[in-house]
Amino acid sequence: MNNICFVTGNKNKLREVQKLLLSHNLLSLEDLDFSDDIPETEDTIEGNAFLKADHIHKKFGVSCFSDDTGLFIESLDGQPGVMSARFAGSNCNSEDNISLVLEMLSGIENRKAFFRTVICLIVNGKVNYFHGEVKGQISKEKAGDKGFGYDPIFIPDGFDKTFSEFTLDKKNELSHRALAVNKLVNFLNGYE
Ligand code: IMP
Repeated sequence: MNNICFVTGNKNKLREVQKLLLSHNLLSLEDLDFSDDIPETEDTIEGNAFLKADHIHKKFGVSCFSDDTGLFIESLDGQPGVMSARFAGSNCNSEDNISLVLEMLSGIENRKAFFRTVICLIVNGKVNYFHGEVKGQISKEKAGDKGFGYDPIFIPDGFDKTFSEFTLDKKNELSHRALAVNKLVNFLNGYE
């Protein structure tokens, strides 16, 4: 399979995944001239990943995959989880989400968290899922200027800096998305 569409409007995600999927011709939604919003109405990240891939597969008939990611914080009972994109409200941005997380964790010692990515691949109507998780801690304050989303406050286990202080290549060596994408790559490489 040569052409495959990554169902995302997020240029940061596209850049990360493009580096990992070198042997395939990755199409973006821009290449399909598609710019509509696909509402994420499910209550699991698997469900939302499926919604996005299914929408594009049905509309364009192309092989495609989407990713949905959540940040799960232990002392907030797994929040923001599936609500990660809209944690601080429906029109919020990453700055707002980060501020809310830091405010809710203020004075709390347990800062354990993990990122979880689910990729949903649809080829000829057949659906496959690939998962990736990375454990870490929420920092006390923001650090770094690379990455996106919650990267400035997430310190992966075994390191003393946030994902925003990593280069893209370094983040791609261990991130939740890279783990899921590598499983996708292995699957695609064995696909006729
Ligand atoms: P979605 O997968 O695009 O729905 O992302 C959900 C939320 O998690 C958004 O706020 C993203 O900015 C954030 N997010 C997704 N992937 C990452 C990541 O790799 N690092 C930090 N934040 C992320």
